[in-house]
Parts: sequence; C-alpha cells; structure tokens
Amino acid sequence: MGYVKSNTSKQSELHHLLQNPATGNPLIPEDGRLRDRGTGASFRIRNGIPVILLPKDIFGWNKKQQRSYDCGSYLYDLIYRFHRAKANQWLQQIADLMRVQSGDYVLETSVGTGQQIRNLQQHGINAHFFGNDISFGMLRQCQKNMKRWKLDIGLVQGNAEALPFVDQLFDVVFHVGGFNFFNDKERAINEMIRVAKPGARIYLVDETPDILPNLPLFSRFIPDPASGVYEPPIDLIPRTMSNIQSHDLLEGMFWLVGFEKPGSDRELRRRSLTE
Ligand SMILES: C[S@@+](CC[C@H](N)C(=O)[O-])C[C@H]1O[C@@H](n2cnc3c(N)ncnc32)[C@H](O)[C@@H]1O
Repeated sequence: MGYVKSNTSKQSELHHLLQNPATGNPLIPEDGRLRDRGTGASFRIRNGIPVILLPKDIFGWNKKQQRSYDCGSYLYDLIYRFHRAKANQWLQQIADLMRVQSGDYVLETSVGTGQQIRNLQQHGINAHFFGNDISFGMLRQCQKNMKRWKLDIGLVQGNAEALPFVDQLFDVVFHVGGFNFFNDKERAINEMIRVAKPGARIYLVDETPDILPNLPLFSRFIPDPASGVYEPPIDLIPRTMSNIQSHDLLEGMFWLVGFEKPGSDRELRRRSLTE
C-alpha cells in the first residue's frame, strides 16, 4: 500500500471514508493516489487534498462557481471581516439552529474557507469535522485557516451533487451558501441524505432575494429572483424525511431548512408506505 501525504489526523482518517462517486466503490490509497480497484480509476491527491471530481459534473453553474471561487478565494474571508457584526449574528443563528454536538461526525458540503466550522468550534463544539468543495482555491485557503486557527478538518475536493463519501457516515450534514446555483439541487439533497446516518440531522442555508439590493455589483451576473432559484427547497425534500423546518435568518436575507433522516430502515419503509 502506497504512502499518502496528509497534514492532519482528520485528513488521514478521511482516506478511509471515501468512495468513487461514479461507481460507489471504496477508494484505496496506492502509490500516492486513491484507487478504485473495481474499475482501476485513480484520483490524485493535491497538497494533501484528494481530488475526487468527475469531469462530467463540471459544467453550467458548477463550473462558473468553481471558476469564480477559485479566483476570489484570497478575498473571500474579507466578506466576514468587513461585515463582522452582521456575519457574527448570522453565524450565531446558524449555530443555534443546528443541533451539532461534541463527538458528532459532521460534514459541511461546500465548506469554503472553513468559517462555519470555526464558528462551531468557537461555540465549544468539539466534533469530527469534514468538508468538501468544488473549488480547490477555497480548500487551499481553508487549509491555511485551519493551521492558523488550530483546527483539524478532513478536506476533499468534490461536487456536492456527487459526494465522494461512503453511505451513512455522518451525524450532521450541512451546507451554507452555494445551493441556490447548484446544477441539480435535488441530487445534492439526496446525496446529503445518503451520507447521513439514520437519525442524522441535515441543514441547508442560502440567500433569499432580499439580499440582492445589498449586492449591486453581483446582481447583474446572477439569476433574476423571478426564476425561483432563491426559494427554500422544501418541495425537494423527500416525504420520507421527518421534522422538516424552515427559518428566516438575518431579517429574511437568508433561509435555513432543516430535517432529519428517519432513525431506522424500518421507519423509512413505514414512512414511504404511509405518506
Ligand atoms: C458562499 S461560499 C460558502 C462557503 C462556506 N460554506 C461559508 O459559509 O463561508 C459557496 C461555496 O460553495 C462552493 N460550491 C459551489 N458549487 C459547489 C458544488 N457543486 N459542489 C461543492 N461546492 C460548491 C463554492 O466553491 C464556495 O466555496
């Protein structure tokens, strides 16, 4: 078995939790890469971060988001710095609504530079944190932040719509900020459910159109509110999920949608028969 460079303990643990999103086969560290022994496909590891993206998934808005976040990754954290009071209020609301506990296995899909995870840790939550993102630039920035903030997160470059994780791993799966522009929102939600354990909590947060007047420079590059892209995705959550909730954050500028994956396969089957 080959040696895989890793920077943190979560980064080395991550290698045992990954799968090829195209086949669902586990990935085995071999000669500095991660190999799907079923098909022979192998994935590289860049700066300690596995790159598990399928080229067929990088098109449309996903490609646009990848490009723009790669370019803007150096500046991204300035948004948090320039809007500190509002950002802290928003981070606090998200942390309060999500039930994350110390010891939980937690995945943030589209982790960006790690700001949400840092906030959870600052709230005293000492969980096992993992994150994926489509932008390598954002993940590099996250790696630097982790070092500065003394945080241990397992990072992988991957698409939120084809998560490179094996099934039923996480107690909490959450996403903040990229969802409105995903190519396939339903697929992203189903992937969050797949990697969640039975009984896990799942949360999504993104902007409502009320934020657009605050972003005059961006407004012309993003879809019109009439297109419906900023709607909370209540209708996309399978009816077999329980405790579906929706909340407004920051005076209606963001929505948060949360739900639970039923606790057992039996309960799941019962719900799909009765609802
Ligand atoms: C507004 S940032 C949010 C980052 C972080 N969650 C936060 O709250 O600060 C949106 C992130 O979504 C990522 N993203 C966009 N589309 C994605 C996709 N299809 N799969 C994974 N990540 C994606 C972007 O690269 C970017 O890092």
